[in-house]
Formats: sequence, C-alpha cells, structure tokens
Amino acid sequence: MLQQVNGHNPRSDGQAREYLREDLQEFLDGEVLLYQLDDLTRVNPVTLETVLRCLQARYMADRFYTNAGCTLVALNPFKPIPQLYSPELMREYHAAPQPQKLKPHVFTVGEQTYRNVKSLIEPVNQSIVVSGESGAGKTWTSRCLMKFYAVVAASPASWETHKIAERIEQRILNSNPVMEAFGNACTLRNNNSSRFGKFIQLQLNRAQQMTGAAVQTYLLEKTRVACQASSERNFHIFYQICKGASEDERLQWHLPEGAAFSWLPNPERSLEEDCFEVTREAMLHLGIDTPTQNNIFKSSRRG
Ligand SMILES: Nc1ncnc2c1ncn2[C@@H]1O[C@H](COP(=O)(O)OP(=O)(O)OP(=O)(O)O)[C@@H](O)[C@H]1O
Ligand SMILES: [Mg+2]
Repeated sequence: MLQQVNGHNPRSDGQAREYLREDLQEFLDGEVLLYQLDDLTRVNPVTLETVLRCLQARYMADRFYTNAGCTLVALNPFKPIPQLYSPELMREYHAAPQPQKLKPHVFTVGEQTYRNVKSLIEPVNQSIVVSGESGAGKTWTSRCLMKFYAVVAASPASWETHKIAERIEQRILNSNPVMEAFGNACTLRNNNSSRFGKFIQLQLNRAQQMTGAAVQTYLLEKTRVACQASSERNFHIFYQICKGASEDERLQWHLPEGAAFSWLPNPERSLEEDCFEVTREAMLHLGIDTPTQNNIFKSSRRG
C-alpha cells in the first residue's frame, strides 16, 4: 500500500518504513528541544515513542500541560506546585487577549469555554470532558476548573446583608469535600479514588456570573461498603467519623474509643483525606445543619 510519510511519496512499504525510521531518528536526535514542543500535533513523525518521549521531556522540565490540537493532555506531577494554580495565574489567563498563546494550561481550557459562552448572542452550553485512568488527576483537574470559575465568574460583592448567605462560589467549592468524603476511597492506585462518575453543571446568568451548580452522580460503587479488596479501604467518611468524633459523639453514635470494625480495613493508614472537620464545615456551608449531620453520621456508622 502506498503511503505519504512526512512529505515523501514512497513506492513501497519498505521505503516507507525506511523514511519513517530516518524521520524518527532525526526527531530523537533533536531531543534536547523536545520539552519545548507545546503541541503534540507538532511532533513528527507521530508514533507512540515520539509522543511519549515528548511528554516525558516536558515532565522532566516541570511542564505538565501539553496541547494535542484542541485537546489538553495533563500529566500528574504527583507533587504540590502551588504557583501553577495561584489566583494570580488564573487572572492572567482570564485577562489575556489570547489565552491560547500562553503556555498550555487547564486555565486556557477554562477560559476559552467561558469566552465561548460570553461571545454568543444566544448562549450555548459548553462542556469539558475530563478523562483518564484511575489516579490520572481527573478529580484534581475538575476541582481546578471549579476554582478557576469561582474566581473569574464570581457573583457581585455581597448578597444583601444576610450573614448566612454564603457566597455562591464558596458553596460550589464546598460540594467537593462532601462528595469526596462519601464517594471516594483509598485504592491500590489512588489514595483518593472517586468511586462514582459525576456530571457537574455550573450555571451562569446573562452577566456570566455563577448563580448555581448541579451535580449528577453515576454508578457509585456501593458494594465497597461491605466488601473491599485487601490493602484498600472503605469510603473515607467512615474513617473520618471514627477518627474525628468527639467523646460525646462517640457515646451518642455507639462508637467506643479504639473499636475495630471488620468493614473498615486498614484504619491505621492515615491520609490527608481523613479530615472530618473539613467535611462537617463544608456540609454546614451547604446548609446541612448539625442535627441533620448527626442523623447522617449515625446512619453512616450503621451502614
Ligand atoms: N495537577 C496536580 N498537581 C499535584 N498533584 C496532583 C495533580 N493532579 C493529581 N495530583 C495528585 O494525584 C492524586 C490522584 O489524582 P485524582 O484523585 O484527581 O485522580 P483521578 O483521575 O480522579 O482518579 P480516580 O479515577 O481513581 O478517581 C491526587 O490526590 C493528587 O495527590
Ligand atoms: Mg477521582
């Protein structure tokens, strides 16, 4: 079969393979500059090896985002990089005349989508699909996008004078710790693995300010409550309750100090996700008051 390989017009498969090999060698010889390739469509020839080499070079140079045409490839740095997600950087991408000319970033995707809504006379819904294997960073990326919109699409300064009227963006962000406490668990691949899929809808008004959010969840792995693989754990909330309940609450919820539960394996592993206070605070901000919380935790314990 005749193929066009990088501008050549070979007459046979053998010739095509030879050209490809030469191009590949040429590409790999120029490896020093690989990390500068911001877009995988500029990788030539496109083979599994060249694409992976490019991503590897960028990873080594702390460049964790790479475009692939209109898709963004995000590598998980597995280490905190606060300057990559600072509010200042969010504002920079938001204010840029052409954000796509800045370094590839999840904020570019966020900003372009936001502008797509803004520029249309009749606003059209925009969707961002975040996909990847377990531990790839989907939950992290969704959180980043929500934080980005909380900054750029903030509602006006205050809502009347009501003390209880939390800013809407803050309430939207508070949905994350609650969903993760009840729907995430420590697995072999990810200490904070989401055991459900979700469709998050952020709602904007005509002035492109955030007015609300809706979250639809899918396929929660309910069987995990009663059955966990060895070295894995049950949902975070159970450990949070066991570790974070006060003495009074322990009495009320029949939770003696130091009790061991066969459905809560590996309790000795202490994770940053085991933070009961954060879950409770977030629930409070979402309007779930303390008596309601008590009822939930009582039944979580029985569950
Ligand atoms: N951009 C990032 N910067 C720093 N750490 C990150 C980043 N993305 C992911 N991580 C780290 O990787 C871990 C796993 O990421 P995350 O929970 O988002 O994966 P996931 O794709 O949602 O996996 P699962 O499908 O199991 O839910 C996070 O807890 C965090 O420690
Ligand atoms: Mg997840």
